[in-house]
Amino acid sequence: MTAIRHLYFHIPFCPKLCPYCSFYVEVGGKNKNREFLDALLREVERAGGKNELRPETIYFGGGTPTSLRTEQLDYLLGGLRERLDLTALREWTVEANPATVREEKARLLRDMGVTRVSLGVQSWDDALLRTLGRVHSAAQAERTYEVLRASGIPAINLDLMFAVPSQRPSQWRATLEKTIALKPDHISSYCLTYEEDTAYFQKLAGGDFRQDVERDAQLFEETMDTLTAGGFAQYEISNYARDGRESQHNRAYWLGADYLGFGPGAFSTVGFSRWENVRDTAGYTRAMLAGETVTGFTEQLGADTRAGEIAAFRIRMAEGIPVNEIARWSGEIAEFEKHGLVVCNEGVVRLTRRGKLLADSVAEALVSIPS
Ligand SMILES: C[S@@+](CC[C@H](N)C(=O)[O-])C[C@H]1O[C@@H](n2cnc3c(N)ncnc32)[C@H](O)[C@@H]1O
Ligand code: SF4
Repeated sequence: MTAIRHLYFHIPFCPKLCPYCSFYVEVGGKNKNREFLDALLREVERAGGKNELRPETIYFGGGTPTSLRTEQLDYLLGGLRERLDLTALREWTVEANPATVREEKARLLRDMGVTRVSLGVQSWDDALLRTLGRVHSAAQAERTYEVLRASGIPAINLDLMFAVPSQRPSQWRATLEKTIALKPDHISSYCLTYEEDTAYFQKLAGGDFRQDVERDAQLFEETMDTLTAGGFAQYEISNYARDGRESQHNRAYWLGADYLGFGPGAFSTVGFSRWENVRDTAGYTRAMLAGETVTGFTEQLGADTRAGEIAAFRIRMAEGIPVNEIARWSGEIAEFEKHGLVVCNEGVVRLTRRGKLLADSVAEALVSIPS
């Protein structure tokens, strides 16, 4: 039995391409077929199936896993249940777009053992949803949330986005308040990033959009204050949980656990090896079913590089990093402490409030290895 306890499945299909998104996705659904599902199941068998894989967490991400039809999800999840040892499973997350889940699909997910659904709401404001090019309205997102709740799925996360073009602080405040009132178990609140090769990036470069760093910092501070006051603990820069409902899968990533990724464009990291499957759904399916490799890219990480990566993730977590585990960055840490970005308390280094506002710069310094 290998020690890999975390599995990721990339389901690359989406109802429509959002103009800010840089994940590997396909729209139109021409490769959303039985062969693709068989390829995923084959990849699991290739990794050793039941004899080798005893996951504690499974994460279906994308793309939009709930773009699969109910009978396709039934086939895939049923196939995985036969091919994985699920006796140690603690959490099974499926990402969902509000336009793609109704009662039957929600019930199937629950019956198949899914414990957590992560719903991409982004905003409760219809005008902003249009700006974001989303396919659903706020009312539809709320109905889907109620359907998921009624299905009995144990935990629900709501994804939100701030720093959206034209977003006013009052709109963001209303979205935060509405989210708290719905009492989800978990909230992910992401600052919009302008990713290369997206329509949003082009608009920013062309001057149609303008970034307002001060407004965005204000929105982030408002997020921390409002969600914390609403009973959600900020356990990571962008993630908030009620009653200890942190995402176990994401925690494992941030703490540097090994994981295997399945599906086109999925990454795996085992020890110091990292590889990515081909970002080509038809090619992935064909190669997998023909018994050929689906690895598109492999890299061997140096020990220092991997340590830097993990430190950069861990510093974003509220639990911080024990000083003795980041001794190699003691110079940088002292410098951050001097500038009020981190504090060192009882042998643990954590970001201050100011540090959280500048978390990317702190993390960047940890990634670059001091000589
Ligand atoms: C794979 S999507 C979630 C499920 C589904 N595809 C959806 O969008 O509803 C993961 C989340 O990443 C966030 N996201 C995507 N692109 C982003 C960007 N450029 N900046 C910040 N957050 C982003 C969104 O909040 C989104 O819900
Ligand atoms: S944000 Fe979600 S729905 Fe939109 S393109 Fe990206 S993965 Fe698909």
